[in-house]
Amino acid sequence: MSTIVVVGTQWGDEGKGKIVDFLASQADVVARFQGGSNAGHTVTADGQEYKLHLLPSGILYPGCICVVGNDVVLDPKLILEEIDALKKQGRPMGELRISNRCHVVMPYHKRLDALQEAFRGKGKVGTTGHGIGPCYADAADRIGIRVVSWMDKAAFAAELKAVLEYKNRILTEVFKAEPFDFQQIYDEYNAYAERLRPYVCDTCTLMNGLIQDGRRVLFEGAQAAMLDLSHGTYPFVTSSHPTAGAVCVGLGVGPRCIDKVIGVVKAYATRVGEGPFPTEQLNENGVRLREIAHEYGATTGRPRRTGWLDMSVVRYAAQLNGLDCIAITRLDILDHFSEIKICSGYTLNGQPLNEFPASLKVLGQVEPVYETLPGWMTDTSGIRDYDKLPPNCRRYAERVAELAGTRLGIVSVGPGRDQTIVLEKMF
Ligand code: GDP
Ligand code: IMO
Ligand code: MG
Repeated sequence: MSTIVVVGTQWGDEGKGKIVDFLASQADVVARFQGGSNAGHTVTADGQEYKLHLLPSGILYPGCICVVGNDVVLDPKLILEEIDALKKQGRPMGELRISNRCHVVMPYHKRLDALQEAFRGKGKVGTTGHGIGPCYADAADRIGIRVVSWMDKAAFAAELKAVLEYKNRILTEVFKAEPFDFQQIYDEYNAYAERLRPYVCDTCTLMNGLIQDGRRVLFEGAQAAMLDLSHGTYPFVTSSHPTAGAVCVGLGVGPRCIDKVIGVVKAYATRVGEGPFPTEQLNENGVRLREIAHEYGATTGRPRRTGWLDMSVVRYAAQLNGLDCIAITRLDILDHFSEIKICSGYTLNGQPLNEFPASLKVLGQVEPVYETLPGWMTDTSGIRDYDKLPPNCRRYAERVAELAGTRLGIVSVGPGRDQTIVLEKMF
């Protein structure tokens, strides 16, 4: 095994960053293939917490090649802030490489994100406000600015002028908002370009070479299956494909390059932003989950919505991603519950549903079917052997894997690297 995909199976924030950082100790390469600074991956290393948004979660290992792939939307200001923060903390970093084909997040993308959300009013998506949707929309509309043009001053000037003429008309005439000044953006972005230039290359050639050489590669997903533009709870989704199939397009590698796919499953469920959430607990259990687990967004600080683990969602994610195994995270949070519910499936009008509903109207009408499992009421955060976990804790984890139809590969009982129990050979 030399390449592994790590993806989220729910609504994001499952602990992908923790799992990727853990596995990265054995990897040569960590590559992001989609998303942008909307991601917030928290990694705890040597007792220190790092919040990564655009930097791949292998960046804390010197010598690890960290690739920002072509389908990541790059916010230059934010990635520079992340680099500066790591340098300031005196942290030795992996070797960063940024694709020359990434689309660049511009100031008008962020303003349009906010204006479009305000326009949607009650129907808002609840985006992170990082300009992700508008940047991907420009890519699809063929009016985006890619790193390769941005790095060429003359090409950048011409493309920025043309696109600003269009964006400023939308801003002023449709939204009655302030236009952007060409020179200001041009100067600001040229300064960023000079700083990021040393990291830019053709990452497709790089990745294919590394894979051919048998190097160990982790493909790091951001967001999760339920936020997938094609397969998630549309329109309450992000604008990219956080599923394993996107690895190929997002990095320019062939489908045969993928050896293993790991789905990260949080032991309960959370969602940030709007949209359906069948197992949401708008009650004391939900509040307890949020408070015990400190469920507040790493990117926006918003309180996360909380609920019981929904296996309809995870099973769907297993199918979408072709999961080989799952990594269960935050199992220790459930140490405090004497009874734990798990949604094994949905019914609609009293009939079991065998497929995940495409219609949000239907998803709003489904009844989650719950199994109640006994809790273990024991601190698991210090346990390092699977066999030493309380029997009820193992029973819960095994039931999750069974309902997902996959193997149980990793159990995580805390944010630290050492709080990870591995049940099968990963690479
Ligand atoms: P990501 O976006 O999928 O990388 O997840 P986030 O970093 O947004 O949220 C996961 C949070 O859970 C982070 O604060 C992690 O440090 C933390 N975390 C990860 N695994 C565990 C675990 O097993 N137990 C506990 N208590 N925290 C964990
Ligand atoms: P990680 O990688 C959780 C959600 C937003 C919103 C929707 C669209 O940390 O798991 P966007 O800004 O992408 O257009 O917002 O997607 N969202 C996330 N929720 N974790 C994330 O990333 C998310 N990235 C986007 O809250 O509902
Ligand atoms: Mg997150």
